[in-house]
Amino acid sequence: MSHPASPARATGRRRAAPARLAGLALALAGGLACAATPATPEPVPPGLPPLGSDWQLPNPYRDQPEVRAAGAAAYERHCANCHGEGAQRPVAEGPDLRRLNGFCQRLVDSALKARCLKDVDAYFLESVLDGKRRAGMVHMPPWRGVLPQETIWAIRSFVEARRVPPPRTLPDLPPGGAVLRAAPPR
Ligand code: HEC
Repeated sequence: MSHPASPARATGRRRAAPARLAGLALALAGGLACAATPATPEPVPPGLPPLGSDWQLPNPYRDQPEVRAAGAAAYERHCANCHGEGAQRPVAEGPDLRRLNGFCQRLVDSALKARCLKDVDAYFLESVLDGKRRAGMVHMPPWRGVLPQETIWAIRSFVEARRVPPPRTLPDLPPGGAVLRAAPPR
């Protein structure tokens, strides 16, 4: 399978640094008052099971609550400024990452649900490694060559364990009969 996080593309470690700095400059010029990306590769946080050099998919830490503390710490450090503290409070700059699994969570068939989550995992990994650009503007800096996959997957595990608030309902809906009711929290 070829996905954007394939080892072939991941070899661009050294080339990524100038691009990252340029991206950061663009982000600052664009007025995003968010966290700067550290320029050096980070070690695997202590306590996370090592995953080796091949990129894993789906998230190898899924349903391993013990990785969440390390994920939370990394999230606060790298993502919270733009995506909201504790992944609880969406802020203007970045989307609410808890909502990424919304569609998958509603699937009843467990095999289908697993496939759906794997697709979201791939999108998550790609987003973090490559960052986000629109019309040449860096909306989110890339973390390729900076964050090891252990950190990225621990962040994903942390975020997906956060509760998503139920969608807003109209005040005059009949009690219990709301079509707009959220799926029950996990
Ligand atoms: C400088 C601000 C900034 C930082 C820091 C940042 N992001 Fe983002 N991120 C954004 C913005 C803005 C978007 C939406 C960009 C777009 O859609 O074009 C985004 C989009 C995403 C998406 C896609 C979400 C979707 O709904 O499509 C993921 C996944 C993501 N970020 C993960 C992360 C993670 C994990 C971190 C920390 C390692 C992080 N981001 C750090 C600003 C940031």
